[in-house]
Amino acid sequence: MQIVRSSEELARARRDIQGTLALVPTMGALHAGHMALLAEARTRADKIAASIFVNPAQFAANEDFGRYPRQEAQDARLLESGACDLLWMPSVEDIYPDGFATNISVAGLSLRWEGEARPGHFDGVATVVAKLLLSVRPHLALFGEKDFQQLAVIRRMVVDLNIPVEIVGVPTIRDADGLALSSRNAYLSEDERRRAVALPLALRSAVEKFRAGSDVAAVLEESKSSLGEAGFSRIDYVALVDASTLQPLDAPRGEMRLIAAAAIGTTRLIDNMPV
Ligand code: PAJ
Repeated sequence: MQIVRSSEELARARRDIQGTLALVPTMGALHAGHMALLAEARTRADKIAASIFVNPAQFAANEDFGRYPRQEAQDARLLESGACDLLWMPSVEDIYPDGFATNISVAGLSLRWEGEARPGHFDGVATVVAKLLLSVRPHLALFGEKDFQQLAVIRRMVVDLNIPVEIVGVPTIRDADGLALSSRNAYLSEDERRRAVALPLALRSAVEKFRAGSDVAAVLEESKSSLGEAGFSRIDYVALVDASTLQPLDAPRGEMRLIAAAAIGTTRLIDNMPV
């Protein structure tokens, strides 16, 4: 696996790559969820590139940019074991050089849910992902369904800006008890980690109830109370939404997704499931 840092080094390495190339963008602190993206990439492309960049533009001032886990050497070893061919680890100056002034904002989709809880977050994501795609120029790029709204924002942006890449969504990888893997799970105390499983359990139980024909509003309220009872300190949303527009639904219709965000202690967790 070749490791490059500056945009110039990346451009040189890119010129030497033959065949189809897949990109797996990450912020590092890699786990089996990221590795599932890599494994899916393997089945679809000749060569795989990954990027590790903890993107300051997608963290608000009060968020965890400073303490986000950084473990370059361990991540590089993991990617190498996953048969990654090229790893790009740019610095903040490589991505945002002096005078950087462009912002990509995907209207509508970015404002609700995560966008409401984290203003500006998806502008930061869209802008950096556009830069990563335009710099690496992969044939396809893989993103996790774990971040369902992020995936929708990126799909919209790529269509709107005619970025020539195929976006592939990969199902969420979970721990044995059902908690979705996330780099942020490292923030949970043992006790919080035990209680966090209430989030996937609440979603799974709600999906079952939707299938059985229960009233949507009543099921969403029950899910919120069960999270409160399990010790979640703040519930940002539990919503049934249209899978492509992310507009809330008050009755089952078309392709749907159940999405949720809630905090346990100081750690905010998100999860979602198909309905
Ligand atoms: P990060 O949180 O590191 O996630 C990188 C990719 O891994 C994302 O596409 C995310 O959805 C996926 N992923 C995370 N946990 C997963 C899980 N349990 N199962 C499957 N896939 C999972 O998301 C970002 O970084 C950033 O916003 C980024 C897109 C890199 C832009 O900065």
